[in-house]
Amino acid sequence: MSFAASEASLCSPPLLNPAIALPKPIQIGVLASGSGSNFEAIAQAILQQYLPAQIKVLIYNNPGASVVQRAERYSIPTQLLNHRDYPSREALDQAIGEVLHRYGVDLVVMAGWMRVITPVLLNAFPKVLNIHPSLLPSFRGIRAVEQAIAAGVKITGCTVHWVVPEVDSGEILIQAAVPVLPDDTPTSLHARIQVQEHRIIVAAIAQIAKQMAESLTPL
Ligand code: GRF
Repeated sequence: MSFAASEASLCSPPLLNPAIALPKPIQIGVLASGSGSNFEAIAQAILQQYLPAQIKVLIYNNPGASVVQRAERYSIPTQLLNHRDYPSREALDQAIGEVLHRYGVDLVVMAGWMRVITPVLLNAFPKVLNIHPSLLPSFRGIRAVEQAIAAGVKITGCTVHWVVPEVDSGEILIQAAVPVLPDDTPTSLHARIQVQEHRIIVAAIAQIAKQMAESLTPL
């Protein structure tokens, strides 16, 4: 069996859901700091009508982050909120909350947002998802892929979870496992983890959409 096949079998649940009918698509705000491959996975899933959702705004904190070019290709509005311009995390989060309100967002997705968020944002927007490149609760915080290699684990992966004030600690929604190969570098391992991230971030949003459709109640 190839590694691709064995990796796929380690991932749960499979990405099988068809498009779900919702009276109104989920209005998503994405927070991202860098490349934005997870942002693009979500945007693609929406374009292909797999996700009943709309990305209302991309908020980014690093001028020059390439996620902006991805957003422009999908004609998604972008807003730079540079954390260096704010006196505190709370002040930044207040500004983020104001933008999210302005765009009518009801689900926030941290897709490579390299900032700790505070109760200021979570009180205003309790529904915040994060994608993290490890099998939580292992390897919380920064450099999770490097942490996994240093620990010598044979399996790592990625996690989509609800965000709470404690970093990388909220309820886990979906995980995918990825084998660590003997000659893996942080770059090679992260690349394989990201393939799974793109699946499970979309699957998590689809799951939330399904729950919304079943309950027909707002988030
Ligand atoms: C991902 O590996 C995610 O798990 C972590 O930051 C990375 C973002 O990648 N939080 P990208 O910008 O979506 O390509």
